Amino acid sequence: MQSTVPSAAALEAVNQFDLTAQYAAIGGEIREAVESVLASQQLVLGREGAALERELADFCGVAHGVGLANGTDALILALRACNVYAGDEVLIPTLTFIATGSAVSALGAKPVFADVDRATLNLDVADVRRRITPKTKAIIAVHLHGLAADMDPLSEIARERNIAIIEDNAQAIGATYKGRRTGSLSDIACISFYPTKNLGAAGDGGMIVTNSPKVDARIRTLRNHGQTSRYISSEPGWNSRLDEIQAAILRVKLRHLPNWQKARQANAALYSKLLAGIPGIRTPQIPQGYEHVFHQYTVRSDQRDALQKFLADRKIGSTIYYPVPLHLQPIYSSFGHKPGDFPNAEHLAGEILSLPMYPELSAERIERVAATIVEFAAQ
Ligand SMILES: Cc1ncc(COP(=O)(O)O)c(C=O)c1O
Repeated sequence: MQSTVPSAAALEAVNQFDLTAQYAAIGGEIREAVESVLASQQLVLGREGAALERELADFCGVAHGVGLANGTDALILALRACNVYAGDEVLIPTLTFIATGSAVSALGAKPVFADVDRATLNLDVADVRRRITPKTKAIIAVHLHGLAADMDPLSEIARERNIAIIEDNAQAIGATYKGRRTGSLSDIACISFYPTKNLGAAGDGGMIVTNSPKVDARIRTLRNHGQTSRYISSEPGWNSRLDEIQAAILRVKLRHLPNWQKARQANAALYSKLLAGIPGIRTPQIPQGYEHVFHQYTVRSDQRDALQKFLADRKIGSTIYYPVPLHLQPIYSSFGHKPGDFPNAEHLAGEILSLPMYPELSAERIERVAATIVEFAAQ
């Protein structure tokens, strides 16, 4: 059946995300928080940052949090806190945002890629085991799209081999794994507050959370030029601090996060109900014992590119997270990887499509997105 594209003007756009809806709801609280920081003129490393560190550590169920300038810095400083230096290897999934790899590269260390599991999109534990060498210093487990990686066997491998394990928790704040929140499942977890994240700042921001007082102290030193006391530096560090305005805004948003999380989960449940059994469409799977927080709602289709165009023609936004796995990225061309080296990640990169998802997304819009996908599948 030939489907006709309705005139674009007749359709309201459904964006993949919409931060204006959130600001419309809580703008007053945000402005009040910002105003209070400006009135205090305590702008860096003050009360708000310290309070957010405490509140977010509590939220994740760990002892310490250290605010940083962004999530990429969180990864870099976490790796250095695990004593990763030039020449070391760090195992990471090949299907992730480039920052997971570039953080390793920034230290002169080598990212060693592992394939991912086709059902969860997260690290394939057996492949991780195969790729560990005597040079491996750490594993970074990414919780992609809001679903935790399978941390127990990964932690077991790390323990056996005496290597560090770090969570890249940029996308899954609030998610749980066997009853425990992401951020509490490893030695150090890295959080991004990039504006589109489930807990997003009004600009850049990041944090590490950890149970280790030693890691906490080292990250505090590293984020402030390696200074162990005023104007005395013990090692090369960075300037990577979360400013007070961002911390104050994040404290407001953290209070709303549990409700936003529920809204994302309800949106995902509606999508999954409406898309169940549609030929050629696979909805996200949630393994038993996991709570997914749907940073992204990602379907799989072997006609992904045509589906994305079909949606775009009808003013429905969607994004591919991520179209090119890291082993095939130009920056890693010298590693000599070729197509076929990581079959699961490559297969998924050709199939995945993230649909509109944000807490305020209305049921009507989800119904329209789903109906459009049903129409595509029926062609
Ligand atoms: C998986 C992953 N890791 C790391 C980052 C880096 O975070 P940031 O953009 O705050 O530097 C992001 C987000 O952008 C991400 O999605």
